[in-house]
Amino acid sequence: MLIKSISLKNFRNHTDYFLKCNPTTTLILGENGCGKTSVLEAIYILTQGKSFRATDPDIIKRETDFYRIEINFDTGVKIIATYDNLNKTFQISDKKTKRLSAKNKYPVILFLPSDLNLISGSPSRRRDYFDRFFSTLNPIYASVLNKYEKALSQRNKLLKTEYIKKDTLFPWDLILAKNGLILKNFRHQFIEEINQYLTTTYRSIAENNDEITIEYTTDYNEITEAEFLKLLEQKYEKDRVLGHTSIGVQRDNYEFIFNQKPADGSASRGETRSIILALKFIEARLIVEKLNQKPIILLDDVFSELDNKRRSCLINNFKNHQVIITSVEKFTIEK
Ligand SMILES: Nc1ncnc2c1ncn2[C@@H]1O[C@H](COP(=O)(O)OP(=O)(O)O)[C@@H](O)[C@H]1O
Ligand SMILES: [Mg+2]
Repeated sequence: MLIKSISLKNFRNHTDYFLKCNPTTTLILGENGCGKTSVLEAIYILTQGKSFRATDPDIIKRETDFYRIEINFDTGVKIIATYDNLNKTFQISDKKTKRLSAKNKYPVILFLPSDLNLISGSPSRRRDYFDRFFSTLNPIYASVLNKYEKALSQRNKLLKTEYIKKDTLFPWDLILAKNGLILKNFRHQFIEEINQYLTTTYRSIAENNDEITIEYTTDYNEITEAEFLKLLEQKYEKDRVLGHTSIGVQRDNYEFIFNQKPADGSASRGETRSIILALKFIEARLIVEKLNQKPIILLDDVFSELDNKRRSCLINNFKNHQVIITSVEKFTIEK
């Protein structure tokens, strides 16, 4: 599916904005702060259901009381999202829903300048990154993650209340134990699939013989649901003092290993960029393989961060996809 056009009303700094998209490459050029990332944000909301950087109250144009964004696809599908400071509504054809269902989502690959810091960034950044990626790959992952996060936030809220009994937490503990282990299994499986392609993809970009893998680490490899429940119970006093849940897959980590050493500290800036590019290419590849859909590529201001060789690599790799690029300056790409 290809995007034909997108229009925004009262969305961030845009009062009325319309963009016609090319089937191949669309370039959005403009000064910093003119609203380029916001256009990608709107596309993201209309294909993924929510923003990658904020919640609706921040997005609605200041001093207005609603936003409306619309996307038209080449298949005739049209999706409209509106938000009026209270309710968010998606309208797909003539049906209105509160949330964008899995069947109405369309895969996109978002490439932000901050992704280039993924390797050295905090574990939570990597968790968010892979959670987003795996949610696209498998709607079951998305729904399990959603259940897990809701239960965790409820449990943490309860832990902060003054009068609470251990038993009150039990229903939440059950959800965490069950879904936490499902997430762990998915994460192992997806990381293994990424690893199958990572070194070869990296080498095709860097043109050398380096080796790169991702290591997924969790404390819950050998544990059953019952054992996990027991652990949660044992940590109850500690969690009460902390005011949050101290164990669980919300603390898992992903580490990039470059020639048998942690990439953070051993891979150069250029190598790091090649690793991230490789990861993006694999993202697209797995989405095509698993969902049989061609993701739309959203490149937010990343060209300024890449040298000529990596720019052309990026463009060549995605030449069969619809690509939407934002940039402050015009740029050239060597063939
Ligand atoms: N809710 C809002 N209402 C009005 N303006 C906003 C809102 N949120 C952000 N902005 C402004 O919109 C502009 C666009 O931001 P952004 O899309 O990130 O720009 P760019 O990517 O072109 O640098 C920024 O100047 C920001 O201050
Ligand atoms: Mg921007």
